[in-house]
Amino acid sequence: MREEDKGQYEEMEKALLVGVDIGEEPDFDGAMEELKNLAQSCLMQVTGIITQKLDRANKALYVGTGKVVEVKEYAAQCEADVVIFDNGLTPSQLTNLQKELGMPVMDRTALILDIFSLRAKTREAKLQVETARLQYLLPRLAGMHEALTRQGGASGSKSSKGAGEKKLELDRRRIEQRISELRRELEDVSRERETQRKKRQNSPVPQVSLVGYTNAGKSTLMNAVLNNCDGEESKKVLEKDMLFATLETSVRNIDMGNNRPFLLADTVGFINKLPHGLVKAFRSTLEEVRGADLLLHVVDFSDEHYKQQMKVTEDTLQELDAGDIRVIYVYNKADLCMDGLPKVQNNGIYMSAGCNIGVTELLNMITDILYAGNSTVNYLIPYADGGAASYLMEHGSVISQDYIENGIRLVVNCTQRDKDKYKGYIVEE
Ligand code: GTP
Repeated sequence: MREEDKGQYEEMEKALLVGVDIGEEPDFDGAMEELKNLAQSCLMQVTGIITQKLDRANKALYVGTGKVVEVKEYAAQCEADVVIFDNGLTPSQLTNLQKELGMPVMDRTALILDIFSLRAKTREAKLQVETARLQYLLPRLAGMHEALTRQGGASGSKSSKGAGEKKLELDRRRIEQRISELRRELEDVSRERETQRKKRQNSPVPQVSLVGYTNAGKSTLMNAVLNNCDGEESKKVLEKDMLFATLETSVRNIDMGNNRPFLLADTVGFINKLPHGLVKAFRSTLEEVRGADLLLHVVDFSDEHYKQQMKVTEDTLQELDAGDIRVIYVYNKADLCMDGLPKVQNNGIYMSAGCNIGVTELLNMITDILYAGNSTVNYLIPYADGGAASYLMEHGSVISQDYIENGIRLVVNCTQRDKDKYKGYIVEE
């Protein structure tokens, strides 16, 4: 390790992870591994992991009472600055644990919220994350105040208690006010987004959305597709080996020069136990998915938990009312676990976006599905409607065009959507 990296490493916050297996999680070890990745994505160094099997969670502390002592000792041993629980903690469990352990405690939701805060770039993403954070904070305020009062040495005298309660009430009101302000701002932003989306939906170009579990390779695939089309560097999206590298939807126009263009949208990655507040907060971003004509469900096929990750994605799609949209399953990162790529099978393709294997095959699958309903149509378009003629020439494949006395005779291969758009000008052969 280089000296400067060493310094950076030493400065990182040290985390002890705690997981309680109460039989609800089908893949408990996988969930703990993911928690570790989440902590690392939040720029923390994981110095210890501790787990416990319980029939049901302890009401006051989540873990068993004896286990708290063990966690405390282990936290000191591995010099942890923070203890992170994989499970969602109630406000009182959080307060009790902080009291017992004498150090900051957070749960999976708080960790994901921190990652989202680090990554939010656009105004909309920032507003969404701030709203979700404040909503998470609100029921936990009392516990935080109590902890602060104790730290400040106010030994709970009547007068300081009264002042503390007033301050708590004031903070609560301020947060509620801020949440209402944020909601109003978000409504404005989502109205703008809705207008843009409608515009896209009214356009003849079909839309394809990339969906999938976080880190499956959606951004890599988007860039591979762009490379295969025109390779413009500026159009590329961020791809990184960290969870939730992408927080905002980006839409790109894909044109392979065969008159079968489509729009491709990258979206935020899904994750197991994505805090409900966040699903709601990011709904408008994910709404792009609902308007799509086709979904590319990107799967990290090299991950042993890929089936479970697919299920999480499918459940989230149901939650977004996008469960009925046609899907191509993109089994990505197959370079890490199989030979003979690419392999096309029914509505799926085994490929590698990272190694640029199978991208052309995937593009063909996409356009074959999107343009399956194409047909050759004969139009007679009056000269007065030059717009219709230029639209069809631009969006369809022109077979012939003749300028006759009462208009333009156009024979064009076009989509069902475009055919319907100008059906008034269709003439029999
Ligand atoms: P989120 O933004 O978290 O939703 O991630 P994402 O799905 O957009 O994943 P991204 O494209 O950022 O890729 C995650 C990591 O997987 C990166 O380090 C990529 O280089 C790597 N990766 C993507 N595709 C492949 C592939 O086909 N093969 C291999 N070996 N690695 C890949």
